[in-house]
Amino acid sequence: MKVYLDYSATSFKKPNEVFKKIEEFYKSNNTSPGRGGYQLAIEAGKMVLSTRNQIKSLFNVGLKDHVIFTKNVTESLNIAIKGLVKKGDHVLITSIEHNSVYRVVEHLKEQGIIEYDIIQVNKDGTLPLDDFNKLFKVNTNLCIINHASNVSGHIMPVEEIGRICHRYNVKVIVDGAQSAGLLTIDFKELNCDVFCFTGHKYLMGPTGIGGFIVKDEISKKIETLIDGGTGSFSEESTMPTLLPDRFEAGTLNTIGIAGLNGALSYLLSKDTIDIILKEKELHDKLYEGIKDIPGINFYGDMLVFKLPVLSFNIKGLDSGELAGILDYQYGIMTRSGLHCSPLAHETFNSLNGSIRISIGHYTTNEEIEYVIEVLNKLGNYK
Ligand SMILES: Cc1ncc(COP(=O)(O)O)c(C=O)c1O
Repeated sequence: MKVYLDYSATSFKKPNEVFKKIEEFYKSNNTSPGRGGYQLAIEAGKMVLSTRNQIKSLFNVGLKDHVIFTKNVTESLNIAIKGLVKKGDHVLITSIEHNSVYRVVEHLKEQGIIEYDIIQVNKDGTLPLDDFNKLFKVNTNLCIINHASNVSGHIMPVEEIGRICHRYNVKVIVDGAQSAGLLTIDFKELNCDVFCFTGHKYLMGPTGIGGFIVKDEISKKIETLIDGGTGSFSEESTMPTLLPDRFEAGTLNTIGIAGLNGALSYLLSKDTIDIILKEKELHDKLYEGIKDIPGINFYGDMLVFKLPVLSFNIKGLDSGELAGILDYQYGIMTRSGLHCSPLAHETFNSLNGSIRISIGHYTTNEEIEYVIEVLNKLGNYK
């Protein structure tokens, strides 16, 4: 039996709609949108526009706000963070950020551009808001929050943080890598200025495509990170102010966009609440089935509503070794180590790493029962 439980890294398998749409577009069109004026290029442009509109529907994006395509959430975060800060700014991040935020702010700090502070998330996975406003300084310009931890699945109170930040005139960027496609996201209600997503995780699309949603008024304050051809305003020597062109220099990844279009058709035909509830049920079943293994230690409170991600260690078993045994001997694919988030491991006091099981769309009851059986066997006879 082969069991894939690394959905937080990327989703596998993908809905058939993804393959169908990629094949259809690549075989029948595959021209560059926004460049040539011939009919096929215009059709390609329509496919890209329809994908933007799907993102707008899924996340209830306002008519005036913008959807920009990038290659992944890492690129989106780099564009948004580097484009919004200026020399002398103070920035806030949380202690469960992925390296795609942590390394960016650390780099900006090393370059002498910003200083930053870390909002400490509790060991149980909650973010305390009581003293939140004490972290603001006169030069605080930006707060970046991971919507849901890729290590533990805990969900951050983004709406509330956004409300407080906006009271202090601080802009908010949300890293939606894990939440997009799983949580019901309403961009109008989220109280953030930029929401960054990646196509290949719970949005079920292919790799190489991601993006960000940006409020119209904030988009004007973001400096471009990548300059180049856009197929528009070619006579001008600087990037156009027109969106999405301003942040989409170079030929678009139309194959990725076509695949994402297929994935979004699939997701929009479902209720995301049903998806997460089914996955959470499997999460709870797995937790119940392994929680009594001697020496097992889970990271964060396991009894709250969160993403279907379990991070743990079993005393006496190295996480890397355990992941290897699970894969090579039992066909169970998990992830071990720091999951690109040393900050989160500091938060959970698991600096040696953990084993992470992330449940997804195609995980079945039988697979979870099998994993429970195998982990109990390994854990009880170590
Ligand atoms: C919270 C979070 N942010 C950012 C990323 C980076 O995603 P990508 O590699 O698609 O840019 C990940 C991926 O693991 C993640 O979990």
